[in-house]
Amino acid sequence: MTSASDWPCVALPRAELADRTTLRVGGEVEWLLEPANPGELQEAWKIAVERGWRPRLLGGGANLIVEDGLLPGVVIATERMRLLFRPLDVAAAGEEGQSPLDSAAPPARVAPADPAADPRLVVWAGCTLPTVLRAARDLGYSGLEGLVGVPGHLGGGLAMNAGGRWGEIWDVVVSVRVLEADGSFADLERGTCSPGYRDGGLGGRAVVGAVLAFEPRPKQEVVESMREHLLAKNRVQPVSLCTAGCIFKNPDPELSGGRSAGRLIEECGGKGLSRGRAVVSELHANFIVNRGGASAADVLALIEEVADLVAHKTGIRLEMEVEVWRSR
Ligand code: EPU
Repeated sequence: MTSASDWPCVALPRAELADRTTLRVGGEVEWLLEPANPGELQEAWKIAVERGWRPRLLGGGANLIVEDGLLPGVVIATERMRLLFRPLDVAAAGEEGQSPLDSAAPPARVAPADPAADPRLVVWAGCTLPTVLRAARDLGYSGLEGLVGVPGHLGGGLAMNAGGRWGEIWDVVVSVRVLEADGSFADLERGTCSPGYRDGGLGGRAVVGAVLAFEPRPKQEVVESMREHLLAKNRVQPVSLCTAGCIFKNPDPELSGGRSAGRLIEECGGKGLSRGRAVVSELHANFIVNRGGASAADVLALIEEVADLVAHKTGIRLEMEVEVWRSR
Protein backbone atom coordinates (compact mmCIF):
# COMPACT_ATOMS: atom_id res chain seq x y z
CA MET A 1 0.00 0.00 0.00
CA THR A 2 1.35 3.43 -0.93
CA SER A 3 0.46 6.45 1.22
CA ALA A 4 1.00 10.18 0.71
CA SER A 5 3.94 10.16 3.16
CA ASP A 6 5.86 7.73 0.91
CA TRP A 7 6.42 10.48 -1.66
CA PRO A 8 9.12 13.19 -1.46
CA CYS A 9 6.72 15.94 -2.54
CA VAL A 10 3.07 16.99 -2.52
CA ALA A 11 1.10 13.82 -3.38
CA LEU A 12 -2.65 13.66 -4.08
CA PRO A 13 -4.46 10.29 -4.16
CA ARG A 14 -7.24 9.85 -6.74
CA ALA A 15 -6.82 13.32 -8.18
CA GLU A 16 -9.13 14.77 -10.82
CA LEU A 17 -7.29 15.59 -14.05
CA ALA A 18 -9.93 17.31 -16.21
CA ASP A 19 -9.31 20.78 -14.77
CA ARG A 20 -5.59 20.36 -15.34
CA THR A 21 -6.09 20.08 -19.11
CA THR A 22 -7.19 22.82 -21.50
CA LEU A 23 -9.94 20.60 -22.99
CA ARG A 24 -11.33 19.85 -19.51
CA VAL A 25 -12.33 16.23 -20.00
CA GLY A 26 -11.24 12.99 -18.37
CA GLY A 27 -11.18 11.15 -15.07
CA GLU A 28 -8.86 10.64 -12.11
CA VAL A 29 -5.37 9.30 -11.61
CA GLU A 30 -4.33 7.00 -8.77
CA TRP A 31 -1.50 9.33 -7.66
CA LEU A 32 -0.79 12.90 -8.70
CA LEU A 33 2.64 14.15 -7.58
CA GLU A 34 3.70 17.80 -7.54
CA PRO A 35 7.48 18.16 -7.13
CA ALA A 36 8.65 21.73 -6.51
CA ASN A 37 12.15 21.37 -7.97
CA PRO A 38 14.29 19.03 -10.12
CA GLY A 39 15.55 17.14 -7.04
CA GLU A 40 12.01 16.30 -5.90
CA LEU A 41 11.07 15.36 -9.46
CA GLN A 42 14.00 12.95 -9.63
CA GLU A 43 13.17 11.37 -6.25
CA ALA A 44 9.47 11.04 -7.09
CA TRP A 45 10.35 9.43 -10.42
CA LYS A 46 12.71 6.90 -8.79
CA ILE A 47 10.18 5.89 -6.13
CA ALA A 48 7.43 5.46 -8.72
CA VAL A 49 9.72 3.30 -10.89
CA GLU A 50 10.77 1.20 -7.85
CA ARG A 51 7.07 0.49 -7.28
CA GLY A 52 6.59 -0.68 -10.83
CA TRP A 53 5.01 2.42 -12.35
CA ARG A 54 6.17 4.38 -15.39
CA PRO A 55 5.14 7.94 -14.46
CA ARG A 56 3.45 10.21 -17.00
CA LEU A 57 4.46 13.88 -17.05
CA LEU A 58 1.78 16.57 -16.98
CA GLY A 59 2.61 20.14 -17.93
CA GLY A 60 -0.11 22.62 -18.86
CA GLY A 61 -2.32 19.83 -20.27
CA ALA A 62 -2.62 21.76 -23.52
CA ASN A 63 -2.21 18.97 -26.00
CA LEU A 64 -3.75 16.15 -24.06
CA ILE A 65 -6.93 14.12 -23.82
CA VAL A 66 -7.31 12.13 -20.60
CA GLU A 67 -9.79 9.25 -20.86
CA ASP A 68 -12.76 9.02 -18.51
CA GLY A 69 -12.47 6.68 -15.50
CA LEU A 70 -9.49 5.89 -13.28
CA LEU A 71 -6.03 6.15 -14.78
CA PRO A 72 -3.80 3.63 -13.01
CA GLY A 73 -0.36 4.65 -11.73
CA VAL A 74 1.35 7.99 -11.29
CA VAL A 75 1.17 11.38 -12.96
CA ILE A 76 3.90 13.89 -12.11
CA ALA A 77 2.72 17.48 -12.61
CA THR A 78 5.42 20.12 -13.19
CA GLU A 79 3.00 22.88 -12.06
CA ARG A 80 5.25 23.91 -9.13
CA MET A 81 8.49 23.88 -11.14
CA ARG A 82 7.99 27.33 -12.62
CA LEU A 83 11.41 28.93 -12.24
CA LEU A 84 12.78 31.16 -14.99
CA PHE A 85 15.98 33.17 -14.61
CA ARG A 86 18.87 34.72 -16.51
CA PRO A 87 21.97 32.53 -16.33
CA LEU A 88 24.92 33.50 -14.26
CA ASP A 89 28.23 34.28 -15.80
CA VAL A 90 29.56 30.91 -14.62
CA ALA A 91 33.06 31.65 -15.91
CA ALA A 92 33.20 34.73 -13.62
CA ALA A 93 32.01 32.55 -10.77
CA GLY A 94 34.90 30.18 -11.39
CA GLU A 95 32.46 27.39 -12.19
CA GLU A 96 33.29 26.66 -15.83
CA GLY A 97 31.90 23.37 -17.05
CA GLN A 98 28.74 23.72 -14.98
CA SER A 99 25.46 24.01 -16.80
CA PRO A 100 23.55 27.29 -16.30
CA LEU A 101 20.70 25.01 -15.18
CA ASP A 102 22.64 24.42 -11.97
CA SER A 103 22.74 28.08 -11.04
CA ALA A 104 19.19 28.42 -9.66
CA ALA A 105 20.60 29.40 -6.25
CA PRO A 106 23.43 31.75 -7.24
CA PRO A 107 26.31 32.65 -4.99
CA ALA A 108 25.66 36.28 -4.01
CA ARG A 109 28.96 37.56 -5.46
CA VAL A 110 27.97 36.88 -9.08
CA ALA A 111 25.63 39.14 -11.01
CA PRO A 112 24.08 38.08 -14.32
CA ALA A 113 25.69 39.69 -17.36
CA ASP A 114 24.14 42.58 -19.31
CA PRO A 115 20.89 41.22 -20.88
CA ALA A 116 21.93 42.14 -24.41
CA ALA A 117 25.41 40.64 -23.96
CA ASP A 118 24.03 37.28 -22.86
CA PRO A 119 20.47 36.89 -24.21
CA ARG A 120 19.81 33.50 -22.65
CA LEU A 121 17.17 32.27 -20.22
CA VAL A 122 17.20 29.23 -17.97
CA VAL A 123 13.69 27.80 -17.70
CA TRP A 124 12.36 24.93 -15.61
CA ALA A 125 9.85 22.49 -17.10
CA GLY A 126 6.77 23.89 -15.33
CA CYS A 127 7.19 27.49 -16.46
CA THR A 128 4.31 28.40 -18.76
CA LEU A 129 5.09 29.32 -22.37
CA PRO A 130 3.25 32.66 -21.96
CA THR A 131 5.60 33.41 -19.01
CA VAL A 132 8.66 32.62 -21.15
CA LEU A 133 7.36 34.90 -23.92
CA ARG A 134 6.62 37.73 -21.48
CA ALA A 135 10.09 37.51 -19.93
CA ALA A 136 11.71 37.50 -23.39
CA ARG A 137 9.60 40.49 -24.47
CA ASP A 138 10.48 42.48 -21.33
CA LEU A 139 14.20 41.84 -21.85
CA GLY A 140 14.09 42.67 -25.58
CA TYR A 141 14.76 39.08 -26.67
CA SER A 142 13.48 37.90 -30.03
CA GLY A 143 12.90 34.33 -31.21
CA LEU A 144 9.60 33.06 -29.85
CA GLU A 145 7.16 35.78 -30.91
CA GLY A 146 5.40 33.31 -33.24
CA LEU A 147 4.43 31.17 -30.25
CA VAL A 148 2.27 33.88 -28.74
CA GLY A 149 -1.07 32.45 -27.63
CA VAL A 150 0.29 28.90 -27.35
CA PRO A 151 -0.69 27.57 -23.91
CA GLY A 152 1.15 24.87 -21.97
CA HIS A 153 4.44 24.58 -20.13
CA LEU A 154 8.02 24.49 -21.36
CA GLY A 155 8.37 20.73 -20.74
CA GLY A 156 5.40 19.74 -22.87
CA GLY A 157 6.29 22.36 -25.47
CA LEU A 158 9.75 20.83 -25.91
CA ALA A 159 8.47 17.25 -25.85
CA MET A 160 6.14 17.94 -28.80
CA ASN A 161 8.05 20.82 -30.41
CA ALA A 162 5.20 23.29 -30.03
CA GLY A 163 4.91 25.86 -32.78
CA GLY A 164 3.44 26.55 -36.14
CA ARG A 165 4.02 28.51 -39.30
CA TRP A 166 5.94 31.26 -37.47
CA GLY A 167 8.47 29.12 -35.68
CA GLU A 168 8.93 26.35 -33.16
CA ILE A 169 10.20 26.25 -29.60
CA TRP A 170 13.27 24.21 -30.53
CA ASP A 171 14.43 27.20 -32.65
CA VAL A 172 15.81 28.80 -29.45
CA VAL A 173 17.10 25.75 -27.55
CA VAL A 174 20.75 25.60 -26.45
CA SER A 175 20.42 22.52 -24.24
CA VAL A 176 17.74 20.48 -22.51
CA ARG A 177 18.05 18.61 -19.23
CA VAL A 178 16.06 15.37 -19.21
CA LEU A 179 15.42 12.59 -16.76
CA GLU A 180 16.58 9.22 -18.07
CA ALA A 181 14.49 6.10 -17.45
CA ASP A 182 16.82 5.13 -14.56
CA GLY A 183 16.25 8.50 -12.86
CA SER A 184 19.60 10.13 -13.74
CA PHE A 185 19.83 13.60 -15.30
CA ALA A 186 21.30 14.10 -18.78
CA ASP A 187 22.08 17.42 -20.49
CA LEU A 188 21.42 17.20 -24.24
CA GLU A 189 23.06 19.85 -26.40
CA ARG A 190 20.94 21.16 -29.29
CA GLY A 191 23.34 19.72 -31.88
CA THR A 192 22.81 16.19 -30.59
CA CYS A 193 18.98 16.42 -30.79
CA SER A 194 16.77 15.94 -33.84
CA PRO A 195 13.45 17.66 -33.20
CA GLY A 196 10.94 17.30 -36.03
CA TYR A 197 7.46 18.48 -36.91
CA ARG A 198 5.39 18.35 -33.66
CA ASP A 199 7.96 16.00 -32.10
CA GLY A 200 10.82 17.05 -29.85
CA GLY A 201 12.60 13.75 -30.50
CA LEU A 202 13.23 13.15 -26.79
CA GLY A 203 11.97 9.58 -26.89
CA GLY A 204 9.44 10.10 -24.12
CA ARG A 205 12.04 11.26 -21.57
CA ALA A 206 10.83 13.79 -19.00
CA VAL A 207 12.05 17.37 -19.48
CA VAL A 208 13.52 18.97 -16.34
CA GLY A 209 14.46 22.34 -17.83
CA ALA A 210 16.30 24.03 -20.66
CA VAL A 211 18.67 26.82 -21.60
CA LEU A 212 17.20 29.04 -24.34
CA ALA A 213 19.07 31.63 -26.45
CA PHE A 214 17.46 34.62 -28.17
CA GLU A 215 18.45 37.50 -30.46
CA PRO A 216 18.54 40.92 -28.80
CA ARG A 217 16.01 43.23 -30.48
CA PRO A 218 14.43 46.55 -29.44
CA LYS A 219 11.65 45.73 -27.00
CA GLN A 220 9.06 47.74 -28.93
CA GLU A 221 9.68 45.62 -32.03
CA VAL A 222 9.24 42.40 -30.05
CA VAL A 223 5.98 43.77 -28.57
CA GLU A 224 4.70 44.72 -32.03
CA SER A 225 5.61 41.37 -33.57
CA MET A 226 3.83 39.49 -30.76
CA ARG A 227 0.77 41.68 -31.19
CA GLU A 228 0.59 40.99 -34.94
CA HIS A 229 0.94 37.23 -34.44
CA LEU A 230 -1.73 37.23 -31.74
CA LEU A 231 -4.19 39.17 -33.89
CA ALA A 232 -3.61 36.80 -36.80
CA LYS A 233 -4.14 33.77 -34.57
CA ASN A 234 -7.29 35.17 -32.94
CA ARG A 235 -8.83 35.62 -36.36
CA VAL A 236 -8.52 31.95 -37.35
CA GLN A 237 -8.40 29.88 -34.13
CA PRO A 238 -10.94 29.46 -31.29
CA VAL A 239 -8.33 30.65 -28.79
CA SER A 240 -10.68 31.61 -25.97
CA LEU A 241 -12.66 28.33 -25.98
CA CYS A 242 -11.93 24.98 -24.29
CA THR A 243 -9.87 22.99 -26.82
CA ALA A 244 -6.75 20.82 -26.93
CA GLY A 245 -5.21 22.86 -29.76
CA CYS A 246 -4.95 21.23 -33.16
CA ILE A 247 -6.19 17.63 -33.01
CA PHE A 248 -4.39 16.28 -36.08
CA LYS A 249 -0.95 16.87 -37.54
CA ASN A 250 -0.89 18.43 -40.97
CA PRO A 251 -0.40 15.66 -43.53
CA ASP A 252 2.55 15.41 -45.88
CA PRO A 253 1.89 18.27 -48.37
CA GLU A 254 2.79 15.97 -51.28
CA LEU A 255 -0.06 13.65 -50.32
CA SER A 256 -2.59 16.38 -49.57
CA GLY A 257 -1.72 18.81 -52.34
CA GLY A 258 -0.53 21.27 -49.68
CA ARG A 259 -3.84 21.26 -47.84
CA SER A 260 -3.67 21.45 -44.03
CA ALA A 261 -5.63 19.08 -41.79
CA GLY A 262 -8.10 21.89 -41.00
CA ARG A 263 -8.70 22.61 -44.67
CA LEU A 264 -9.20 18.91 -45.51
CA ILE A 265 -11.71 18.50 -42.67
CA GLU A 266 -13.59 21.60 -43.80
CA GLU A 267 -13.64 20.43 -47.44
CA CYS A 268 -15.03 17.06 -46.32
CA GLY A 269 -17.88 18.75 -44.45
CA GLY A 270 -16.55 18.13 -40.95
CA LYS A 271 -17.17 21.60 -39.46
CA GLY A 272 -19.98 21.56 -36.90
CA LEU A 273 -20.04 17.75 -36.47
CA SER A 274 -20.72 16.96 -32.83
CA ARG A 275 -20.93 14.21 -30.22
CA GLY A 276 -22.58 15.15 -26.95
CA ARG A 277 -21.08 18.47 -25.87
CA ALA A 278 -18.02 18.14 -28.16
CA VAL A 279 -18.12 19.91 -31.51
CA VAL A 280 -15.77 20.50 -34.45
CA SER A 281 -15.04 24.23 -34.45
CA GLU A 282 -16.77 26.31 -37.12
CA LEU A 283 -13.81 28.70 -37.04
CA HIS A 284 -11.00 26.16 -37.54
CA ALA A 285 -11.88 22.56 -38.37
CA ASN A 286 -8.75 21.09 -36.74
CA PHE A 287 -10.04 22.13 -33.29
CA ILE A 288 -12.64 20.31 -31.20
CA VAL A 289 -14.43 22.53 -28.70
CA ASN A 290 -15.80 21.33 -25.37
CA ARG A 291 -19.01 23.36 -25.08
CA GLY A 292 -19.09 22.52 -21.36
CA GLY A 293 -19.71 19.08 -19.92
CA ALA A 294 -18.24 16.99 -22.77
CA SER A 295 -16.77 13.61 -21.84
CA ALA A 296 -13.51 12.20 -23.16
CA ALA A 297 -15.59 9.46 -24.82
CA ASP A 298 -17.52 12.17 -26.77
CA VAL A 299 -14.28 13.79 -27.92
CA LEU A 300 -12.57 10.52 -28.89
CA ALA A 301 -15.62 9.31 -30.82
CA LEU A 302 -15.77 12.63 -32.66
CA ILE A 303 -12.06 12.43 -33.53
CA GLU A 304 -12.59 8.96 -34.99
CA GLU A 305 -15.60 10.14 -36.97
CA VAL A 306 -13.66 13.07 -38.44
CA ALA A 307 -10.62 10.90 -39.30
CA ASP A 308 -12.87 8.31 -40.96
CA LEU A 309 -14.70 11.01 -42.91
CA VAL A 310 -11.47 12.45 -44.29
CA ALA A 311 -10.03 8.98 -45.03
CA HIS A 312 -13.21 7.97 -46.82
CA LYS A 313 -13.42 11.11 -48.96
CA THR A 314 -9.74 11.73 -49.70
CA GLY A 315 -7.84 8.53 -48.94
CA ILE A 316 -5.68 10.46 -46.43
CA ARG A 317 -5.54 9.04 -42.89
CA LEU A 318 -4.92 11.99 -40.56
CA GLU A 319 -2.50 11.33 -37.72
CA MET A 320 -3.27 12.63 -34.24
CA GLU A 321 -1.18 15.45 -32.79
CA VAL A 322 -2.78 15.39 -29.34
CA GLU A 323 -1.69 12.77 -26.85
CA VAL A 324 -4.29 10.44 -25.35
CA TRP A 325 -3.87 8.94 -21.85
CA ARG A 326 -5.83 5.68 -21.88
CA SER A 327 -7.15 4.39 -18.58
CA ARG A 328 -6.91 0.72 -19.66
N1 EPU B 1 -7.99 26.28 -43.22
C1 EPU B 1 -9.22 26.02 -43.78
N2 EPU B 1 -10.25 25.64 -42.95
C2 EPU B 1 -10.07 25.51 -41.60
C3 EPU B 1 -8.79 25.76 -41.03
C4 EPU B 1 -7.76 26.15 -41.88
O1 EPU B 1 -9.42 26.13 -44.97
O2 EPU B 1 -11.03 25.15 -40.90
C5 EPU B 1 -6.89 26.73 -44.11
C6 EPU B 1 -6.44 28.15 -43.77
O3 EPU B 1 -7.21 29.09 -44.41
C7 EPU B 1 -4.99 28.13 -44.24
C8 EPU B 1 -4.56 26.69 -44.03
O4 EPU B 1 -5.74 25.93 -43.90
O5 EPU B 1 -4.94 28.41 -45.62
C9 EPU B 1 -3.67 26.54 -42.78
O6 EPU B 1 -4.39 26.94 -41.63
P1 EPU B 1 -3.71 27.75 -40.42
O7 EPU B 1 -3.03 28.95 -40.98
O8 EPU B 1 -4.71 27.94 -39.38
O9 EPU B 1 -2.54 26.80 -39.94
P2 EPU B 1 -2.56 25.28 -39.49
O10 EPU B 1 -1.61 24.55 -40.40
O11 EPU B 1 -3.96 24.77 -39.41
C10 EPU B 1 -0.56 25.35 -37.81
C11 EPU B 1 -0.37 24.63 -36.49
C12 EPU B 1 -1.00 25.43 -35.37
C13 EPU B 1 -0.41 26.84 -35.34
C14 EPU B 1 -0.66 27.51 -36.70
C15 EPU B 1 -0.09 28.91 -36.80
C16 EPU B 1 -0.44 22.21 -36.96
C17 EPU B 1 -1.28 20.97 -36.97
N3 EPU B 1 -1.04 23.33 -36.57
O12 EPU B 1 -1.98 25.35 -38.04
O13 EPU B 1 -0.67 24.77 -34.17
O14 EPU B 1 -0.99 27.59 -34.30
O15 EPU B 1 -0.05 26.69 -37.73
O16 EPU B 1 1.30 28.91 -36.61
O17 EPU B 1 0.74 22.16 -37.32
C18 EPU B 1 -1.31 23.22 -32.50
O18 EPU B 1 -0.25 22.64 -32.78
O19 EPU B 1 -2.08 22.83 -31.59
C19 EPU B 1 -1.65 24.38 -33.29
C20 EPU B 1 -2.81 25.01 -33.14
